[in-house]
Amino acid sequence: MAGPVTTGWEWSAESLAAVGLARLGALYTDAAFADLERERVFWSSWVLVAAAEEVRPGSALAVDLAGASVAIWRRPTGELAAFHNLCPHRGIPLIGLPGPVGRFVTCPYHQWSFDLDGRLARISQPEEFPHADRTAIRLRPVAVVEWHGLVFACLAEPAPDFSSVVAPLEKRIAAHLTAPWVEVTRRDYMLACNWKLLVENHVDVYHLWYLHQRSLSGYRHEEFRWEWQGETWWSWEPARHPTPPGPGGARPVGRHPEGIGAHLVFPNLMVVTTGDFLATYDARPQGPDRTAVTLRIRSTPDADPDTLVGSIRAFLDEDIVACESLQRTVGSPVFGVGPTARSHEAPVLQFHQLLRQKLNSP
Ligand code: FES
Ligand SMILES: [Fe+2]
Repeated sequence: MAGPVTTGWEWSAESLAAVGLARLGALYTDAAFADLERERVFWSSWVLVAAAEEVRPGSALAVDLAGASVAIWRRPTGELAAFHNLCPHRGIPLIGLPGPVGRFVTCPYHQWSFDLDGRLARISQPEEFPHADRTAIRLRPVAVVEWHGLVFACLAEPAPDFSSVVAPLEKRIAAHLTAPWVEVTRRDYMLACNWKLLVENHVDVYHLWYLHQRSLSGYRHEEFRWEWQGETWWSWEPARHPTPPGPGGARPVGRHPEGIGAHLVFPNLMVVTTGDFLATYDARPQGPDRTAVTLRIRSTPDADPDTLVGSIRAFLDEDIVACESLQRTVGSPVFGVGPTARSHEAPVLQFHQLLRQKLNSP
């Protein structure tokens, strides 16, 4: 169907054409664009892949980073190491299910072994490989960092400096990050929408009054404050009535006991902070119209997981309904985005600007 090119979020017809798209809605439906995004956005950014608790000393974990399998384990010193999870012999995954690792990791296919630094330690039937340069055979490293109980990985070589990426947010939510909290629960969801719709929704201030008119009525949206700095977004709004201390009682100085914070680490990590917890949920694309999300909540060890999950799902469920129904209209030939609220939707424009930047720098 021919018709006017529909645009929005400051995507011009030219900038859409530069990434192979004819209209705005294809950002959310086009499979080739989803591949481009995977390579240029997800494979070049720091992405949350696990909680620190998931990688115990002496254990290994395989995680999916936008279609690339990454193996993570701890060296005896406790330090994390990460490698592409494929054997340099024939490419089979080295680590399948989470499991123990000793001094070596052994490939299940032909039993080559690697030390925990990724160096080849043993080839089975070495006489069969008279010309192999054993020093050149090694696992391909992946950059990994542990950040206040969260594990991030980055496939870019070299990876950008992680601490400068998160520094602006780290300063803002330092008390939450350094609180003596543990992961009290982790829940997995599969949503029928493009990952960007969830991120746009997360940084959209405008819908708080309307979509969440009941679930978030306890906060003063008119006092909402936010700040984009580099690749992170920070926001906070005060509660109408101060809430009593949560499980565990005392709160560290500097925490915001009377409000709620919503934050983003570009591209896909959404963070929520209150006086009682720090929650993360990441939008991991599984194709243009499906997104896997893992909700992780850090709080005091005695906190009730169901109560914490319930307090988030009260508004998150409303967001999911909105995003999944939007997914049903982005395929329309006339889908576009109209004028945007100058302050309350400005963070969404910032998100798209960053996205364009990443897409344009292969
Ligand atoms: S594929 Fe790993 S040893 Fe052959
Ligand atoms: Fe929302």
